[in-house]
Amino acid sequence: MNQKNLLNVIGNTPIIKLNKIVPVDAAEVWVKLEGLNPTGSYKDRLAMSILQNALERGDVQTGQRVVEYTGGSTGTSLAFVSAILGLEFTAVFSNAFAKAKQQSMEAFGAEVVVINSPGGKITPELIQKMKNKAYELAEQPNTFYADQFNSPDIKNGYESLGVEIASQLENKADVLCAAVGTGGALMGTYSGMVSSGMDPKLIALEPLQSPLLTTGEGGAHRVEGIGLGFEPPFLDKEKVDEMRAIDEEDAFEMCRLLAKEEGILGGGSTGLNVCAAIEIAKEIGPGKRVVTLNCDNGLKYLGGYIYS
Ligand SMILES: Cc1ncc(COP(=O)(O)O)c(C=O)c1O
Repeated sequence: MNQKNLLNVIGNTPIIKLNKIVPVDAAEVWVKLEGLNPTGSYKDRLAMSILQNALERGDVQTGQRVVEYTGGSTGTSLAFVSAILGLEFTAVFSNAFAKAKQQSMEAFGAEVVVINSPGGKITPELIQKMKNKAYELAEQPNTFYADQFNSPDIKNGYESLGVEIASQLENKADVLCAAVGTGGALMGTYSGMVSSGMDPKLIALEPLQSPLLTTGEGGAHRVEGIGLGFEPPFLDKEKVDEMRAIDEEDAFEMCRLLAKEEGILGGGSTGLNVCAAIEIAKEIGPGKRVVTLNCDNGLKYLGGYIYS
C-alpha cells in the first residue's frame, strides 16, 4: 500500500488471540500488537497526536525545538514524528533505560541529555531529576514542552487504539487490562472502546516492586515505562474496577515464554500485561475475553536483563 507520509502507517495494528500459553479452561486472551507501529511502540500514536495538534494550534512551529523527559519509548516516537514534521527534539533520558532507546532517538536526529542513575534502577528520585532538567530546558526560547504527563492530546491520541479493538473483536471483550505509566494508553484505549459501544471491566496494572496504586508506596523496579512512583496523571480511578500488582520476575519470564511459544517479542510491560491477562482469564473462565496490549517491540531489550 502506498502512503504519502510515514505518519499514515501509525496504528491499525493487528490483534491476535494467544493460542498456546492460555489454559483451555480459561477465558480467551487477545493481544493488540502495538510493537508493529513504525518505531515499535504505541507511543507513536501519542507523539503524532501531541505534535500535529501543537503545530495546528501554533504552540510550536517548524524548525523549533520540542523537549520531553522520557524512558525512551515516548522519546523515540517524538524523535521520529519530529523528524517527519521538521521539528528539533531534545530528550532528557537516563542510563536506567535501554541503551538502544538512546541510540534510536539519536538515529532520528534527537539530542539526548543523560541523567545518571547510580544503581541503574528506575527510582522516584531519578524521575524527579529528569523532570527538573526537562523543565529547565523548556524555559528556553522557541522551545515546546511536549508534556506527556498533562497534554490533553494524549488520551485522544490513544482513542484510535480502543476503536480498532472494538472493530477487530466485533465489540466483544469482558476485560481490558494494562500496566500504567501515565495511564494515557489504558484510559485512551478504554475510552475508544466505550465510545464504540463496549463496556469492558477496566483493570490497571503495576509492578509488585513499585506498588504505588495498590499500597500507596512506589519503589525501585526494572519494568521500563510503568511504575513511575507518582500518581498516574491520566488514570481515572472512578472508571477503574481493579488495580493489580504483578511481580516483575514473572513479567520477564512471560516475555521469554511469549517469544518462544507465541512469537511475540515484547518488552517488560508487555510481559507484565500478559501475565495479568492470563491470571484474569483463569479467574473469569471460558466463554469470556480479556484484551491487553503488547506495548512495544522487544528488539530494543535484547541486550538487557530480560532476554540475556
Ligand atoms: C514500554 C512501555 N510500556 C508501557 C508504558 C506505559 O504507558 P502509559 O504512560 O500510557 O501508561 C510506557 C510508557 O512510557 C512504555 O514505554
